[in-house]
Amino acid sequence: MDSQNKIIDESIQGTALEMTQINNPEAKKLYLESYGCQMNFSDSEVVASILSDEGYQTTRNIDDADVILLNTCSIRDNAEQRVRNRLTEFKIKKERNPDLVVGILGCMAERLKKNLLEEEKLVDLVAGPDAYRDLPNLIVEVGTGQKAVNVLLSRDETYADISPVRLDQGGISAFVTIMRGCDNMCSFCVVPFTRGRERSRDPQTIVSECRDLFERGYREVTLLGQNVDSYRWNISAKGEIKNPDQPTTNFAQLMEMVALVSPLLRVRFSTSHPKDMTDEVLEIMAKYENICPYIHLPVQSGNTDVLYRMNRGYSREWYLERIEAIKRIIPDCAISTDIITGFCGETEEEHQDTLSLMDLVQYDFAYMFKYSERPKTLAERRYEDDVLEEVKGRRLNEIIEKQLAHSLASNQRLVGSVQKVLIEGPSKRSDEHLCGRTASNVMVVFAKGSAQKGQYVNVQISDCTSATLIGEIV
Ligand code: SAH
Ligand code: SF4
Ligand code: F3S
Repeated sequence: MDSQNKIIDESIQGTALEMTQINNPEAKKLYLESYGCQMNFSDSEVVASILSDEGYQTTRNIDDADVILLNTCSIRDNAEQRVRNRLTEFKIKKERNPDLVVGILGCMAERLKKNLLEEEKLVDLVAGPDAYRDLPNLIVEVGTGQKAVNVLLSRDETYADISPVRLDQGGISAFVTIMRGCDNMCSFCVVPFTRGRERSRDPQTIVSECRDLFERGYREVTLLGQNVDSYRWNISAKGEIKNPDQPTTNFAQLMEMVALVSPLLRVRFSTSHPKDMTDEVLEIMAKYENICPYIHLPVQSGNTDVLYRMNRGYSREWYLERIEAIKRIIPDCAISTDIITGFCGETEEEHQDTLSLMDLVQYDFAYMFKYSERPKTLAERRYEDDVLEEVKGRRLNEIIEKQLAHSLASNQRLVGSVQKVLIEGPSKRSDEHLCGRTASNVMVVFAKGSAQKGQYVNVQISDCTSATLIGEIV
C-alpha cells in the first residue's frame, strides 16, 4: 500500500486479533476481526473478555474458528463495502462447516439491524455496540438453528466492570474507553445513529484499569471517546452536579488522575472536539510530562459556511483561536486533524479555505477523506451530495499533497534533535532495528543495541521521511 492510500485507508483496515490465552485444544475458538476506529478495537477486547468467560479462546487462524465475528464500521460507504467483500470469502468455510457461526458486530450491525440477515445470507448473528453482554445467549440461539439479533442501544452501558482481554500479548500500549456514544449530530456523521447517546464511564474504574495495565508492563494508555472534552462524571448535560455527596470529574481532572498512576505511564487521548476543548485541558497537559504533547483536533473544513452545513458548532476563526491556545500553552505540541473534501455544496473557494487553513496550522499529520453520504444523516436529508466524484478526488489529492509536504517539514524539524522514545518492538524493516514513538507521536526506527520493548530511550534523529524518523540511541 503506498503512503497516500495508507493515510486514507488506515481507519478501515481489518485486523485479526492475536492469540492471547494458553492453548487449550478443547476450547471453542473465536476469530475476531476489527474494522474502523480505535473504539472498535477496544470493544473487540471487551467482546473477547465476555466470551472468554464462556470458555472461548481467541485464535489468529480463521480455519480453526467455531465463531467468526467481524466488528464493523459504517463511517464511509467503502468501509461497509470492505466488510461485505470479506463476508463473501466465508462462503466456502460455511459450506465446509455448517456449524460455523458468523456474526456481525459494531456499527454496521447497528445501522442495518436485521436487514443484514436478508442482505447477507451468510450472517447468523447481529449484535450492536451496546449488546455485547448478550453475545453468549445470541450464540446459543444460533446453535438452535435460529438467526439472532440484538441491536438495542443503551443510555448507560459503559462495560465499566469488564476487564478487557488484551489482544496483543506483552503489549506496551493499550486503549482505554472512557465514554461511549456521541450527542453531537455533525450532519455528515453516522456515529450518533450507530453508537447512541453519549455517556461517561466511572472514573475510578478507568484509573484502576490504567493502574492494572501499568502493573502488567504497559507503558502507554490512550483514553478513547468520540468527544473526550465532553467527558463528565456526576455532572449533568446542563453542567449541574447530580449527586452533591459525590465528587465530580471532568476530562482535565480525569487526565490528571490517570497521569498520576505513574510518571512512567504515557497518557494519550482521542478525539478532542474544537468546540469543547478547554484551556483547563491544555494546562493539565502542560503540567504533566507524561501526558503526551499531541492533540488530534479534527477540523473537517477550513470554511465557516461549510462548517455550518456540517453542524460542527464552530467557525474557522474559533478553530484557529483554539490552535493558538494550544501553541501558547503547550509550545511544542504536535497537532493532527481529519479533513473531508467535497462535502455538499463545497465550492472551489471553500476548498481553497481548507488549503489556506492547513498552511496556517501546519499539521504534523492528517487523515483525509472524500465525503461519503450516509443514510439517515442530517446531510443526507437536507443537502445534495452534489460535488462530482472527480472533483472530490482532485481536491483530496491537493490536500494530501499539501499534507505530505507539511508532514515532511515537521519531521525535518526534528532531525538533529534528541527524542525520548518508548520502544514498541521490532521494526517492520529489519530484526536488527526497533521502533517506537516520540511523545509527539512520530514513529522512530533505530538500531537495536541492547534496548528492549517497553523501555524509554533517547534517540538522536539523523534522517526522516514524511512518515518516519530514523536515528540512533544515545
Ligand atoms: N468523533 C470524531 C470523529 C469520528 S469519525 C470527531 O468528531 O472528530 C472519524 C472521521 O471520519 C471524522 O473526523 C471525519 O473526518 C470522517 N468522516 C465521518 N463521516 C464521514 C463521511 N460521511 N464521509 C467522509 N468522511 C467522514
Ligand atoms: Fe461524528 Fe461529530 Fe460525533 Fe465525531 S463529534 S462522532 S464527527 S457526530
Ligand atoms: Fe466506524 Fe463506528 Fe468507529 S462507524 S469510525 S467503527 S464509531
